[in-house]
Amino acid sequence: MTVLNTFFNRRERFIAKLNGKAAVVPAAQLVTHHADCHYPFRQNSDFWYLTGFDEPDAVALFLPYRPKGERFVLFVHPKEPGAEVWNGFRSGIEGAVADFGADIAHPLAELPQRLSDYLIGSEGIVFRVGKHPHVESLVLRLWGEQLDHFQRTGSGALSLEAPCPLLHQLRLLKDGNEVERLRKAIRISAEAHELARKKVRPGMNEREIQSLIEQYFLDAGARGPAYGSIVAGGDNACVLHYTANNSELRDGDLLLIDAGCSLPDYYNGDITRTFPINGRFTPEQRELYEVVLSAQKAAIESVTPGQNAEGVHAVAVRSLVEGLLELGLLKGTIDEVIEKGAYRHLYMHKTGHWLGLDVHDVGAYRLGEYPVDLQSGMVLTVEPGLYISDRLPVPDGQPAIKEEWKGIGIRIEDDVLVTKDGHEVLSGEAKSSVQSMQD
Ligand code: GLY
Ligand code: MN
Ligand code: MN
Repeated sequence: MTVLNTFFNRRERFIAKLNGKAAVVPAAQLVTHHADCHYPFRQNSDFWYLTGFDEPDAVALFLPYRPKGERFVLFVHPKEPGAEVWNGFRSGIEGAVADFGADIAHPLAELPQRLSDYLIGSEGIVFRVGKHPHVESLVLRLWGEQLDHFQRTGSGALSLEAPCPLLHQLRLLKDGNEVERLRKAIRISAEAHELARKKVRPGMNEREIQSLIEQYFLDAGARGPAYGSIVAGGDNACVLHYTANNSELRDGDLLLIDAGCSLPDYYNGDITRTFPINGRFTPEQRELYEVVLSAQKAAIESVTPGQNAEGVHAVAVRSLVEGLLELGLLKGTIDEVIEKGAYRHLYMHKTGHWLGLDVHDVGAYRLGEYPVDLQSGMVLTVEPGLYISDRLPVPDGQPAIKEEWKGIGIRIEDDVLVTKDGHEVLSGEAKSSVQSMQD
């Protein structure tokens, strides 16, 4: 199946769900870094999912009420040698049709006068308010015109709906192409983790390890890191979103690395490994590592169709609390500690999230009262951790933390595909056993 077919099939599925409504899905815009410099362009994931078109500012229309051959319309920047000399290649109107399968394409500047006509016959407008300021006022104005039209004629686009329930439900279940691309992103990410563990030595700087990892991503053909790489020695690992990456790596400390690459088509890896910088765990580090590893294994084991993300979290929490009670870092019964949340000064985040075109990928975790069941084709991270520091107060009734435990931050994060019969760990090439952490 060609990649063009993949996007075509996604659009067909999306259009089939629109039920007579027009969808307006805008591309991302360039974002200013400072002065007149921009961050590297990053396409909007919804837009990418449906089009595979990687240029800024474009707008895609999906029009199920039009005849076949007029249902996918792209508004794009036209070819213009002057602009292309400065900012690079544009597909233009012809390319949008020939290379991206648009039924019809127009210059972006014509969106304001053409959109009104394209909405004729729609029963509603599907558009995400609050995210696309460059298109929003136009869509809202035309929706108002549709309401006036309804007043006069009894037909028109009455509703304005978010695309999330439709589109994000599709994105949550990965198709074959997506699983293949995720495998690749995750494999490269895992290889970079293996490399980092082999190269690390006391006295290096966190930044040197960041550089090794990110160079590996680029050499392997990735776009770069999927998110700010976290390379956190010792106590820095207790800061969950630590990205300064500028401290010396000290003999006797652990190193936590949370890093993954993003491919040119935006699929991401998200892996965390934690290991001793000098190759030997201290007794305290090893005991805590084993607690996190057991919790992670139990949580991964529980991933199967019919389970849900909250259930996976509950398995991890129970196992962590059990281990912490044995080590004397908590006291009470397992149920009492969980009930009171008296472990949250040591484990304060959830155990995972969906993974896909976004690192924290779209899709509901809960529909009202009901947690969303895991289904074959979903991909989630499983990433329990423990963070032993003075930053949060010890809850009433829990033991003060002894000095020998402080400054130990551990997370182990894998990427897991839900399969028909259970799960497959996609990031297993990055080893996590106690023994491999000491190789
Ligand atoms: N690296 C972001 C996360 O693990 O969620
Ligand atoms: Mn994650
Ligand atoms: Mn991560």
